[in-house]
Amino acid sequence: AEVIIVDDEDEAGEIYAQSVASLIKAKPDAVLGLATGSSPLAAYRHLAQHIEAEGIDVSKVRGFALDEYAGLDPSHPQSYRSTITRTVVEPLGLDPQLVQVPNGNLDTIAVAGRQYDEAISAAGGVDVQILGIGSDGHIGFNEPGSSLASGTRIKTLLEQTRKDNARFFDGDINQVPTHCITQGIGTILKARHLVLLAFGANKADAVAATCEGGISSFCPASALQLHPHATIIVDHSAASRLK
Ligand code: F6R
Repeated sequence: AEVIIVDDEDEAGEIYAQSVASLIKAKPDAVLGLATGSSPLAAYRHLAQHIEAEGIDVSKVRGFALDEYAGLDPSHPQSYRSTITRTVVEPLGLDPQLVQVPNGNLDTIAVAGRQYDEAISAAGGVDVQILGIGSDGHIGFNEPGSSLASGTRIKTLLEQTRKDNARFFDGDINQVPTHCITQGIGTILKARHLVLLAFGANKADAVAATCEGGISSFCPASALQLHPHATIIVDHSAASRLK
């Protein structure tokens, strides 16, 4: 993978935004792989500015999110459907009908993963997948130990992840769903370009393991080493454990 060290999230966001803006100009129905969490927010903001300033037509742009809580109504403000609507669809002016989020409905979750992977394939695959990384090396909700060949499927959330996310649920871990549906590592690797963003010292170990450790399911992001076009953009703190 190519590693780019930047000063801050804005510089990283601008690199992503310029690349995606050119993509959409060349391919108006481009397929964007979307992530929630804090790492991509500046990237989405910069992309929105490019779309506005250059008058880029995004009416045909399609999107697929990485993951969703299981058993949480999509209308819940903390569902990833709501989060993607708030942070991506609305600011970029995308057609909400063209942006999919995995379906966490418990009645259909056993088949929803395979259907999601089929929908991505039917769309021609993801052109650019933006990724954050957990301090334990997770990508999507693929925690350490997840198969590197996995497709989209239901997963149990780790206690630590539920604790980390309790801040979005009135600080109450009991309100945080126990399961999720996430694109698998195999799904993520099928995207044509991966852009992983990591900022801050608490990502430094995970970034070092991703770039310089062996390929292992114990650092799910290390699977990026298998990908022919992966770009890892980190600030100086997140890069601090690289050799
Ligand atoms: C988000 C996702 C997660 C986050 C990761 C980092 O859809 O799947 O893997 O990217 O937990 O989160 P932040 O960016 O908030 O540090």
